[in-house]
Order: sequence, then structure tokens, then C-alpha cells
Amino acid sequence: MSRLVIVSNRVGIPDGSARAGGLEVAIRPALKKSGGVWFGWSGKVSDKAPKPATTVVKDDVSYVTVDLQKDDYEEFYNGFANRVLWPILHYRLDLAEFTRRDLGGYFRVNEFFAANLEKVLEPDDIIWVHDYHLMPLAQALRARGHKNKIGFFIHIPFPPPEILTALPNHERLIPALGNYDLVGFQTDTDANNFSRYLATEVGLKSVGQDCFDYDGRVTQVGVFPVGVETEAFAKLARRAVETPFVRDVFQSLSNRAMIIGVDRLDYSKGIPDRMNAFERFLMNFPDWHNNVTYLQITPRSRSDIQEYADIAKQVGEAVGRINGNFGEASWTPVRYINKAHSRTALAGLYRVSRVGLVTPLRDGMNLVAKEYVAAQDADDPGVLVLSRFAGAARECTAALLVNPYDQEGVATAIHRALSMSLEERRQRHAVNYRALMRNDLSQWAEHFLDTLAAPPQPMRMPVRASVRR
Ligand code: UDP
Ligand code: G6P
Repeated sequence: MSRLVIVSNRVGIPDGSARAGGLEVAIRPALKKSGGVWFGWSGKVSDKAPKPATTVVKDDVSYVTVDLQKDDYEEFYNGFANRVLWPILHYRLDLAEFTRRDLGGYFRVNEFFAANLEKVLEPDDIIWVHDYHLMPLAQALRARGHKNKIGFFIHIPFPPPEILTALPNHERLIPALGNYDLVGFQTDTDANNFSRYLATEVGLKSVGQDCFDYDGRVTQVGVFPVGVETEAFAKLARRAVETPFVRDVFQSLSNRAMIIGVDRLDYSKGIPDRMNAFERFLMNFPDWHNNVTYLQITPRSRSDIQEYADIAKQVGEAVGRINGNFGEASWTPVRYINKAHSRTALAGLYRVSRVGLVTPLRDGMNLVAKEYVAAQDADDPGVLVLSRFAGAARECTAALLVNPYDQEGVATAIHRALSMSLEERRQRHAVNYRALMRNDLSQWAEHFLDTLAAPPQPMRMPVRASVRR
């Protein structure tokens, strides 16, 4: 059997630390099952000459990582990946800050990854590349003569060509995806946007089902929504409520209902709008004063980037305002925490929360939404309030779906969730839970890798993780 080689900028080396980020959470179980290599950035920035890659082996997985040079970190990671691609792919043209230097750094680091990766590659390895940091990686590997099967999965949204074409040099970057054998997206909308880009900007027509022929290479396009390990997470949550940490939090609520939000401190998550909506909820529904606590867990993310510092300030101010205006000596309406929590702690906190408040302005999938559903007690479940602009809304159709820009609407949904009858809560939870079971995380990896390994067509079309027709 061929070896699986995963490549992503962030590598989840198991070191016991709690870190936030859906990519790591999704990849770890897939690799644990098959074994293989996980290649990427060590998370370290060096100002010395580049060192050879470091390898750590644990449980059949070799974690092979390289340090980034200071310029690479600035131009590739903070620069093109997170100041240009991240905002544009999240439909935020207003936040994109393009420079030619950062674009150069982006291609340079992809080249550097390819040069280091090839030292560990074997000819029949299956290579699976993840996320927006590494769009041109297959091109760099092909230029070095590698003929392996290479798949690409993008965890974040892919916008329509009308937005994407505002990206300077998009014609150099996006068609480079044609060097992959399979390009996977979270939702139909994302895949359609990509196909439409290829048709309108590159002039490619699909050949057969979901395949494009670019310079003689056939690239297949597919939809593979990331799931969670539903039953394992449910089990974890049942155990976690018995831990001293979760018991303490629960007792500290003094019988108040808890609302939970868990997000990296990122503008795509809509946290300031959510705070405003919670404030509006307190204004519109005063009966809930002193009867509800909103816990927002928000680990800092990409803090060297100005827009992330700005959002931190904005959220901090909103929390201060709400607690100042509505709080009492014995009641703090919003508990706002910047520390990352372990998944066990989160699982337990989800289970004791009456409402999961997940209102990103735009999100590829949003695993927190799915984890919240998986963690509930089916006999007495809490209610998920979910942004219609999260990929998870396609599956969690029985959540209270909201428009995160409509603060009155979100405020009313919070009230509705807190007041919902047991019967309706059970019904909604059952529908969402069944959807998660149909598309478990193990199927995500399996389906992507089976599709990558198979000849391009004709394709099967299972219900959830479908290859788009
Ligand atoms: N997470 C965590 N600890 C934290 C906050 C988040 O382990 O303190 C995890 C969370 O359980 C989820 C992931 O980070 O699995 C976040 O994924 P999501 O898709 O919701 O958002 P992303 O951060 O990838 O944009
Ligand atoms: C999202 C992205 C991942 C990224 C993660 C954490 O989940 O899709 O690619 O790893 O955020 O962000 P960071 O910049 O810390 O890697």
C-alpha cells in the first residue's frame, strides 16, 4: 500500500498543548489511522541560516518540519497567506493588503517546502496538501519531476470569480491548482465558484464529470465536507462533565443558563457582531438578566497582524461595555477568555451549555458547531444557533440558522434557543446528530483518498461527501 504524506503549513506535533485550528483537528485522526508522514512548518522562526528538516516519529507517523526564516514568516505567513489570501477567500476585499514582495515570499516558501519535501518522498507516495498556504506546491513538485498522485483540500471558503479576480496575480496562482490530480472543497458553492473561475478566467471547459484538462493534465474537482469524530466526541463529552474543571465552571453558574462561543480571535468569526447581538438580546429580553452567562473562549491567533490586533481591541471593548452596563456585583454577563482550552475541556463545556453560539461572517466549515452538536445529551440537548454563512449550516439544517449581520435576528434566536421546549430541542438535535453520523471524519479522509487514488471518472456520488456533478 502507498504511504500517505500530508503537507500543511501547520503541523499537529503531539506535544500535549491545547491549540485552536480546525485543520490540525481534522488531519490528526486521519493520519493516526493510516500512519505516514506529516510535513510542514515547525512553528519556529529563525534568523540563522536554514537548517535541515527535523523529524519526530510517534505512533507510525513521522512529523517532518522545517523552520521559517524571518523574511519567510513575514512575507509568506503574515503577508500573502494571512493578509491577502485569508481575507479575500473569506470575501473580505476591504482587508486585503497586497504587495509584490509578499507574493514573491509566498512562491519562495512553496519552493522551499518542495525542496525539503522531496528529500523524504518516495515515488508511490500519495501526497495530500492542505489549505491556502500551499496552492502552488504541486506545481513546484511537478517542476522537480514528481509524478505522484497529489491532492489538494482547501479548508476555507472559495469565493466567486467576481471577488477572486480582485486578487492581483490571480492568473498566476489559481491555475497552478491544475497541477493537482484532485482539488477538494468543503461545499458545493466553493466547488462551483472554482469551476466557474476556470471556465470564465482560464477558458477551461469540464471534460467528463467534474474534470478539467489544463495543459494535458486532468484535474478532478470534488466536495468533501469535513466532519468530526461524532461518537468519540460524544463519549469524550460524557466523561468530561465529570472532570473537576467542568464541575467547577458549572457550579460557578449558580443555576444560570450558559451560552458558549469558541473561536480563534479572527475577524471571520464575527465576534464583535455577536457581542452586539448579545447586548441587543439583554436589551430586548430583560427577563434573562441575571439568568444567563455567556462564556466566550477565544484563543489569540496571528497576533502580529494588525487586523487581528484591531479585532482583539474591538472585542475587549464590547465585553467591557456589556459587563459595565448590564452586570451586577453578583453577575457577570460575559466571561471572555483568551486562553486555548483542551478538547476535553471544550467537550464538557459544550455539554453543559444551553446554547452554542456560532456566528461566523464566513467560514469554510466550522468544526465548533459540529462538536457542540456531538457533545449534547440527546435526552436534554442544548440548541445550536448557527450562521448561515458557515459550511456546517449545509449539514446542521436543524440548528437555528441566522444571518450574523442581523443583530436583532441573532438576539431573537438566542431568546428562542433559551426558551425552546424539550421536545423541539430533542427533535432538532436528533436531525443534526444524524447528519454528523452520516459524514463522520473518518469518511472524509477515506473518501478524499479513494477519489484521489481512483482513475478520474466515472464517479460514485454518495449523499454527503459527494463529488460534484
Ligand atoms: N479548539 C481547541 N481549543 C480552543 C479553541 C478551539 O482545541 O481553545 C479547536 C476546536 O475544538 C475546533 C478547532 O479548534 O476543533 C477550531 O476549528 P473551526 O473549524 O471551528 O475553526 P478554525 O479555527 O479552523 O477557523
Ligand atoms: C484555520 C486554517 C488553518 C490554520 C488554522 C489556525 O483552520 O484553515 O490552515 O492552521 O486556521 O491558524 P494558524 O495561522 O495558527 O495556523
